[in-house]
Amino acid sequence: MELLIEKIKNEGIVLSSSVLKVDSFLNHQIDPQLMQEVGKEFAERFADSGITRILTIESSGIAPAVMTGLQLKVPVVFARKRKSLTLVNDLITASVYSFTKQETSEISVSKKYLDEKDKVLIIDDFLANGQAALGLAEIAKKANASIAGIGIVIEKGFQDGGRLLREQGYRVESLAILDSLENGMVSFENSSEKMEELAR
Ligand code: G4P
Repeated sequence: MELLIEKIKNEGIVLSSSVLKVDSFLNHQIDPQLMQEVGKEFAERFADSGITRILTIESSGIAPAVMTGLQLKVPVVFARKRKSLTLVNDLITASVYSFTKQETSEISVSKKYLDEKDKVLIIDDFLANGQAALGLAEIAKKANASIAGIGIVIEKGFQDGGRLLREQGYRVESLAILDSLENGMVSFENSSEKMEELAR
């Protein structure tokens, strides 16, 4: 998605060879116009998939997920990472291990908002090692819902998540795929620059 790639080029900050900071439009401050375009793009890509519900995880997955739900006119459910005061009964849970943080957390969704009639689109902001997406998929499976695919705003193509999810047969649609963050520079997979480079 060209608009997103431009935004990353202009505002993304490479923190290390594996971490990109995008808190001016996705992870802290949110750019609503860009998120609206992100929602339209996911909605277009999954237009014929019969999606009935979007499933994401708090907190940064919520903005792109809501914009996609708005376009597809379906509700959006976000998995909680922390125990809620009001959400205590009939929870579906999954354990998610974060390689980045080296900790396991339990994520949960109420049975009330996901069931066997659902065709789910999983949305998240980043795809790194794929553990959050796998946890969401596990929750959808436990609810006996079917999974139409996984929509990712920024995939780090040099980490294992994308391969892992695609190998398991999931349709993964990423709007920007980072090829590398080496030497303080962001390079993209399949970007027009790279295509030109390949054509040379
Ligand atoms: P995984 O789910 O793909 O296995 O990823 P991992 O555990 O490594 O990621 C943990 C958190 O760090 C997630 O957010 C994920 O979105 C985020 N993350 C991973 N790589 C990057 C990166 O290069 N840049 C940025 N900005 N974030 C990254 P989280 O802790 O759940 O945060 P939030 O959703 O509450 O904002």
